[in-house]
Amino acid sequence: MTYISNDIVNEIRSRTDIIEVVSRYVNLTKKGKNYIGVCPFHDDHSPSMSVSPEKQIFTCFSCGTSGNVFNFVANFEHISFIQAVMLLGEKLGYNLSNSNALIKKDDYFEIYNLANKFYQNSLNTSLGKNAIDYLKQRNIDKETIKKFGIGLSVQKLSLTDYLKNKKYDINKLMDIGLTNDNGNDIFINRIMFPIYDLSGNTIAFSGRIYNTKDTSKYVNTKETEKFKKGKILYNYHIAKEHLKKNDTVIIVEGQMDVIRASTIGINNVVATMGTAITKEHKAIIKNMTKRVILCFDGDAAGEKATTSAIAMLEDTDLDIKIVRLPNNMDPDEYILKEGKSGFCSQLDAAYNLIDYKMELLKKNKDFTDIKDISSFVSSAIKELVNEKDSIIIELNLKKIATSFGIDYNTILERYNEYKKDKKEVKKKLDVKKSYNRYSQAERNLIYYMLKDVTVLKMVERKVGYFPTKSIRELSNEIIYYFHKYGIINIADFISYISNKEELYDPLMDIIAMNIKDDFQIKEIEDYILVINEYHKEMKVRNLNQKLKEEKDPLKQAEISLEIMKIRGVKDDDTRN
Ligand code: CTP
Ligand code: MN
Repeated sequence: MTYISNDIVNEIRSRTDIIEVVSRYVNLTKKGKNYIGVCPFHDDHSPSMSVSPEKQIFTCFSCGTSGNVFNFVANFEHISFIQAVMLLGEKLGYNLSNSNALIKKDDYFEIYNLANKFYQNSLNTSLGKNAIDYLKQRNIDKETIKKFGIGLSVQKLSLTDYLKNKKYDINKLMDIGLTNDNGNDIFINRIMFPIYDLSGNTIAFSGRIYNTKDTSKYVNTKETEKFKKGKILYNYHIAKEHLKKNDTVIIVEGQMDVIRASTIGINNVVATMGTAITKEHKAIIKNMTKRVILCFDGDAAGEKATTSAIAMLEDTDLDIKIVRLPNNMDPDEYILKEGKSGFCSQLDAAYNLIDYKMELLKKNKDFTDIKDISSFVSSAIKELVNEKDSIIIELNLKKIATSFGIDYNTILERYNEYKKDKKEVKKKLDVKKSYNRYSQAERNLIYYMLKDVTVLKMVERKVGYFPTKSIRELSNEIIYYFHKYGIINIADFISYISNKEELYDPLMDIIAMNIKDDFQIKEIEDYILVINEYHKEMKVRNLNQKLKEEKDPLKQAEISLEIMKIRGVKDDDTRN
């Protein structure tokens, strides 16, 4: 176990300037008391990250990532908190290696790079003849094999033995998904497609059966520290290089679709590898381009994937187009059959978003049936309520009116009705989202407890009990820290709770709320009052409920009296 005492951690932190360290990674500009820069932890376009020299913390007001200098370095370098402490400590001349917390060099990339070469070599041995034949029969030539680093795993050539001979630890090989619990290779007799991360490092493999029968056509590396299917897109590092300004990225399902497109000179293609598009994918795509074409398989699964991708991507300013290939074909099959010109015609004729949605709504409808017409018209108008472009809205409403011989005013009236409903639903959601009074008061108090010991002591004395569990625990921990060290500041307290997620995450949320720094004692008293009022309100609410259920008039009177008592007494007397 790695251990560095809290005192040392605090000492290193106090001797390190967060502005100087963050500037090594991100361009910072001074703005008022703080410095701002583009946040490296999400797809940021305008500077959303603020770094405070006074508090020695950073916060991104867009993605909410916050913390002290150690958290910044840990997040940026993908290392643990303690490793970040050591990294910065060693720069100051601390010798932390005998605190048995050596920073282990991460050899993940090194091993995967070797594995990638190993599999590519195996394909070229005499044992690879059948695999080469299979690839040939699928029209994959030598050049393409090389370009995508396609390789082969064979039983007789053990990757595990090869890496063990190179002195890599067997536990590490198991850990990163190359070796199973029995010490044998995970991939056996499969065509190997290396998977690269966004920077082009090999981080995983997808292995396909070729001349054997197996229950699973593809086997992928398990999720590892570096390989998360939801965070990578196959071929990203190549596609990115081929995107000219304003160019479009084509999103497909499988790696064979990417590879086939490359054989006809189309390289701006990435694959989701059969998973649904995630929030992380969305951030990556937004960073690549403004225009996407979804070109999933032509089957029902591909249609479902298209719908879910649209749902994920449509709240961005991406221009989304959709291709639906005929006869259940996937892009690989379609290109093989129709060639480059056929595929390019499909891309040129891609649906825009609203047309595609209208097409989907028409599916399985019988337009000789009045009921079907009415249901289509309603859902089509509902869909248009989400559209922003007023010209597109009007054109489509008119189209609906003429296609079905309905008066335009009737259609427009219905549109306005739906629009109003939508606004009301949104209002309700917005209200729900904003913190209610008690939560705001709780969070302000936590923030000011870390800024000013006076507040800390007031809370200790006057607040009986914070309504929210995580806030209660934070408050307890802050008070405990203060009594132990006799001093408190936000940056060091963050270090202290960095390994306690249940405290760390709520505190980061509070920091990201951008609470103003100066405050009056009167405000603190008000917040405390709000918290204590909350408990009174809860008691009254319970009693009111009881009152409603009570039949006996005598008991009713008793409860009423109790309610009046709670409502009447001074706040200080209710604390427990
Ligand atoms: N996939 C997977 N595991 C499976 C099946 C599929 O991870 N058991 C992923 C693979 O990345 C695959 C993608 O989902 O490329 C799409 O699957 P599918 O359409 O079944 O494969 P194809 O792309 O058609 O592959 P092939 O042409 O080699 O059959
Ligand atoms: Mn296929």
